[in-house]
Amino acid sequence: MAEHIKVFLSEKEVDDRIQQIGDQISRDYAGKEVHLICVLKGGSFFMCELAKRITVPVSLDFMSVSSYGSETKSSGVVKIVKDLDEPLKGKDVLVVEDIVDSGRTLSYLMEMLRDRGPASLRLCTLLDKPDRRVIDVDVDYTGFQIPDEFVVGYGLDYGQKYRNLPYIGIVEFDD
Ligand code: IMP
Ligand code: MG
Repeated sequence: MAEHIKVFLSEKEVDDRIQQIGDQISRDYAGKEVHLICVLKGGSFFMCELAKRITVPVSLDFMSVSSYGSETKSSGVVKIVKDLDEPLKGKDVLVVEDIVDSGRTLSYLMEMLRDRGPASLRLCTLLDKPDRRVIDVDVDYTGFQIPDEFVVGYGLDYGQKYRNLPYIGIVEFDD
């Protein structure tokens, strides 16, 4: 089925909000270093933009998880495809995600990371769809709460497409 993308949050709206979150994180972590964990691939665009706006020292690591499911629904079964390079012990860790939807991926991931003994562990997500939550997840920093629509851009994909859009768009299907 053919689809088109309707702009939902403009590039400027997203960038302005990321600046605000960066400022907030810089204040909250004053006097500390923050260890950012990017959840690939979706979190990558957001993490890069966010990291540039944080003024305390930043280190980065990456991990990749896959949930077995269809294009637009996650099944809740999460597999680590690529693990972190560095241990988390004693670090102030901030997980950076593109979106919290059902919450299944993040609740699993946060629990697993907590077991590795970080000094602190927080979660930052660009988007949150609270209406879709199945499992409770504590989110410390949220860019935007959005309605139950399938969105793309700024790292988010539909069938691996549209990650590179500099804005957030809603996928609409043509009939
Ligand atoms: P969860 O349902 O919270 O476990 O989210 C699982 C994953 O589904 C997210 O990390 C995204 O990669 C993907 N996802 C959820 N909603 C959307 C969306 O609207 N657009 C693109 N990907 C999404
Ligand atoms: Mg994701």
